[in-house]
Amino acid sequence: MNEIIKISKLNKNYAGKYQALTDVDLSIKSGEIFALLGPNGAGKTTLISIICGLVRITSGIINVDGKNIDDQPREIRQRIGLVPQELTTNMFETVWDTVQFTRGLFGFKKNNDFIENLLKKLSLWDKRKSTLMTLSGGMKRRVMIAKALAHEPDILFLDEPTAGVDVSLRKDMWAQLHELRKSGVTIILTTHYIEEAEEMADRIGVINNGKIVIVEEKEKLIKKLGKKHISFELEKELTSIPERLSNFKLTVKDKTLNYEYDSKNTDVHISKLFDALKTEGITYKDINTKQSSLEEIFVELVKNS
Ligand SMILES: Nc1ncnc2c1ncn2[C@@H]1O[C@H](COP(=O)(O)OP(=O)(O)OP(=O)(O)O)[C@@H](O)[C@H]1O
Ligand SMILES: [Mg+2]
Repeated sequence: MNEIIKISKLNKNYAGKYQALTDVDLSIKSGEIFALLGPNGAGKTTLISIICGLVRITSGIINVDGKNIDDQPREIRQRIGLVPQELTTNMFETVWDTVQFTRGLFGFKKNNDFIENLLKKLSLWDKRKSTLMTLSGGMKRRVMIAKALAHEPDILFLDEPTAGVDVSLRKDMWAQLHELRKSGVTIILTTHYIEEAEEMADRIGVINNGKIVIVEEKEKLIKKLGKKHISFELEKELTSIPERLSNFKLTVKDKTLNYEYDSKNTDVHISKLFDALKTEGITYKDINTKQSSLEEIFVELVKNS
């Protein structure tokens, strides 16, 4: 896949003093779903706003599909849809009008069929004549998505698209985003719901204090940094770990014996552990295994960066 967005050595100082982004290098592949994770104030919205031409860069280079953002800001903005973190829109307008208006803003011809289809896909068709202020928060979020898609962009940024959205609606939105991706749209989203990144993203980038900490394919990230845990439910309580088992990273609490290991190098140790337990006459009723979640990996990454 080719790179649709390429960011090199991007720096942003707000008001000449606050360094919100430092030497950010990041490439987004055409057609992928990329999730940008990071704590509050990490620089996610700043980064998105810069690519969308809403915030000026201090230094660095941004290319979208090979075009420099400084040279061709309009052409680039045309191709980008943005669902902003803060809902900013005229609350007295109807759903239909606000989406239609946004399409017009980008110089696109009216296309009622397109908008009808869009509103139907986002389950907003029934609400097309309602003013925005009469909609629930989750519906307003979906209107923001409809607005972002009104000019048929092929790159879509979503800044915390499901903040405050209930679980079932969130799942609907994920399904819709997967559909969009199938149609060829590149999707970049920020989220504080790690589950959302886990569900949606092909690749994940973590940003902290304005610096990119890691960019990796989701599966690889989990494999590379994840740990696995096995816990044995013992038949008899174990007061201490026997000498022969001291090579293994074991902890014991009441009748539970816990073993933790890297996902990378596994098998040999596990079978050795089983053998050693047998030799020691340690018997168990049940075994549970657990792979560390993306959430645990994320917390570790941010803590250590
Ligand atoms: N207009 C501004 N003027 C000055 N500082 C700003 C401005 N906008 C953002 N900042 C600062 O830049 C830093 C990054 O903010 P940003 O909004 O990009 O973070 P974020 O990762 O999106 O956080 P959140 O998860 O809370 O949305 C913060 O310290 C913020 O206070
Ligand atoms: Mg933000």
